[in-house]
Parts: sequence; structure tokens; C-alpha cells
Amino acid sequence: MNPAEPMPLAARQGGPLQGRARVPGDKSISHRALILAALTVGETTISGLLEGEDVLHTAEAMQALGARVERTGDSAWRIHGVGVSGFAQPARVLDFGNSGTGVRLAIGAVAGAPVTATFDGDESLRGRPMRRVLDPLEKMGARVVQVADDGRVPLTLQGASDPIPIIYESPVPSAQLKSAVLLAGLAAPGETTVIETEATRDHTERLLKHFGAKVTSKPYGDHGRRVVLQGQPELAPANVIVPADPSSAAFPLVAALIVPGSELVLDAVMTNPLRTGLLTTLREMGASIETLEKRDDGGEEVADLRVRASVLKGVEVPPERAPSMIDEYPILAVAASFAEGVTRMRGLKELRVKESDRLTATADMLRANGVAVEIENDDLIVHGKDRPAGGGEVKTQMDHRIAMSALVMGLGSENALRIDDSAFIATSFPGFVDLMRSVGADFS
Ligand code: S3P
Repeated sequence: MNPAEPMPLAARQGGPLQGRARVPGDKSISHRALILAALTVGETTISGLLEGEDVLHTAEAMQALGARVERTGDSAWRIHGVGVSGFAQPARVLDFGNSGTGVRLAIGAVAGAPVTATFDGDESLRGRPMRRVLDPLEKMGARVVQVADDGRVPLTLQGASDPIPIIYESPVPSAQLKSAVLLAGLAAPGETTVIETEATRDHTERLLKHFGAKVTSKPYGDHGRRVVLQGQPELAPANVIVPADPSSAAFPLVAALIVPGSELVLDAVMTNPLRTGLLTTLREMGASIETLEKRDDGGEEVADLRVRASVLKGVEVPPERAPSMIDEYPILAVAASFAEGVTRMRGLKELRVKESDRLTATADMLRANGVAVEIENDDLIVHGKDRPAGGGEVKTQMDHRIAMSALVMGLGSENALRIDDSAFIATSFPGFVDLMRSVGADFS
């Protein structure tokens, strides 16, 4: 992607959205499947892998660390792993592009191997905090050789040759942080424990078990978990089926809710309960979202979702729900703009350190399109109305979710809405524009 060539795009009202669609594979699971496959001795196949730029960067990094990574077909990949502690010294800088998940998970995996690697990324990633993962990894014996401004990439990490297992209470609710510690813990003897006071997505734990590691996860306090990993397992190759990403499904889903007369079926969307906060919230707002066939797909629950245009009302979203919908606030804010009354989303501090300062970017997106919005401490307050004016230009700030949320907003607004750059959509949802057009969206 060339940041010097922005790709503007506009969205406007057209007819209802109709049909069926399947969004690409889950981004979180795709990163983890590649990394864990690389830490396994033998051959793993992955189907349904998300072939977005973020995940492709992780695939390249695993290759640079010695795994053999091959694309065998559409979303189908084969990985020959090197085993826990088996990474080779990479000959080049590991570039993670726009991806916080890719870089933080890979930093964790490298921390448990006797190699030194340099991690870098684009301008957005260079602004994001890495101290949160470096702190526990240093306790485990990894050494930060070099790091930019107060804990940012580019950074060079020397992995521990004899990693120390730790008990770590996570100071922020972050699945990336939990995963980084667990991945480093694979190479440590004995038990590595991560305690989180607010439960975050558990795909690392599930996949670790899938590859043969011993992991237990027990409730901790009111909303937390205590996760214990037995170190130095012999990870066995296992085939992985990646289910459709609920965070990507969120965009056509909200589009169908706000465009009058719409009815869409979204196929096989992952409904892991640690990812479904948006569905809970939208249903509280009055959204018609029917769960059709529920089933199991490669160790995750999936369901077809039928969504119909709905009259929405404002609600209060409690802070403890944030981890289960952390990536969905921009698109929820769009839904809230079309709702009757006020929606208050509480406890959004973590949004400030996403691909952009997403709290500010979300508020700016709504304001530019005639919606009254306030930020009060870490809360976002949206004053909905039946149909926002639209007509604004949204600055996407290298943030794929702001770009897609804004385009969805344009489909329901009075006037066409423009985004300055659609290029970053490809980091997580390649094919978004075509998929939306196939169900009737007017993007040009
Ligand atoms: C992710 C965790 C979340 C989320 C990100 C994906 C993951 O980040 O925002 O898109 O795959 O672990 P944090 O761990 O920073 O909350």
C-alpha cells in the first residue's frame, strides 16, 4: 500500500440492501493460527484464513522466523512449523504494517525464543504503545535492546534463552497482552498464569488447546478469568478452520439496520460470547437480528444471522461490555446516530490507542455529518435522530474501521458522504466494497 496515494470513496442512499453474504475469516484467529502453527513441529493447514494485509504481514514474519508458509488456494494455507523455541534468527526487520495484533503477538512468541528480532510497522503502528507487552516479557527474561519513544516500534527484542514462568495480572483488558504472555510462556518451564479482571477474547486459549497445550481458564472476580498454561508442551500440528469475522460482519449488519426496507443474511458468523457485545447492544436498541442455524465450526460457535431494517432507540452501554465489542464502537456509534434518543457508551479508554485515537475519530466522523456527539471522560454520547444529514468528508486516519463505519453511515444519510482514503480497509476486510455493492450498496 502506498500511503502517498489516498483512495477516496463516497457512499450514498440507494435502494434497500438485500441478499446473503459471507464476510472473510476472523482476523484474531487468523493471526493466532499462523503463529501457533509456526510453533508446532510439522505441517498445519489453515482454511478460511483472512487474506487481509494485517494477516499477510504475520505470515511473512513467521516465514522470516524460519517457518515454511505456503498459500495453497483461496484462503487456504500450509505451514511447516519449527516448534516451541525453534525460531531462526530473522535476516530482516519484521514489518507488521498497520497491525497491533500481529506485532504484539509476534513479540510475545519471539520473547520465548533465543533470537533477536526487530519489529516495525506503518505510521499508525509506530504511534501505538508496546510497553504493555514489553513489561511482562522482560520479567520473563526477554531483553529490549532498542526501542523508539517511550515504548513504540521500531523496537529490537532479544528473546530469553531460558524464559521464566510468571503470574501476571494484566493492568489493561487486552487479549493481545494476554496472548503475548501466553505465547512466551510456551517456552517456559512450569505454569505461566495471566489474570485478567475483565475477560477478553479467548481465541489464543482455544487454539493452544487445539494444538495440544494444557490450558485452564477459570472465572476470576465478577468479570475476569485466570488463565494457566503448562509450559514446554510438544505442540502437535492440527488443521484450523477460521470462521467468519464478527467484527467485519458488523458493517453489513448495521448497514441493513439503517437502510429502510433492507434484509440481509450473513452466513456463518462467529458468535463466540466474548465477541458478541455488539449483537447484545443492537438487540437492546430494538434491532431485528435473528439467529438462524447455530453450529460448531472448527471449535468456535457460528450462526447465520438474518437482519432486517429496524427502528432503533438509544441505550446505555455498560463499561464491562467493552472487551466483547471493543472494535465495534465506531459502527455502533453509526447505529446510534440513526436511533431515537441518546446512546451513552461507557468506559472506552482503550479506544484511544487503536489504529487511530478511535474515540476522537468516531466523534469527528459523526460531527462532520450533522450528528451531535460528546466525549465525557472515557464515554461517548451520541444524540441520535431518524436520519443524519451526512454530506461530510471523513478523515479515516489510517483506520480501517473508521473508513468502513463512515461508508455505512453514508448509505443511510440524507446526503452522500465521502471518506478521504479507503486503502486501509484492505488491512482487515479485503472485498468489503464489492461485498457491499453485491447486496446493493451505492459506493463510488
Ligand atoms: C485483538 C484484541 C483487541 C482488538 C484487536 C484484536 C486480538 O485489542 O482491538 O482488534 O486479536 O487479540 P487489545 O488487545 O488491544 O484490546
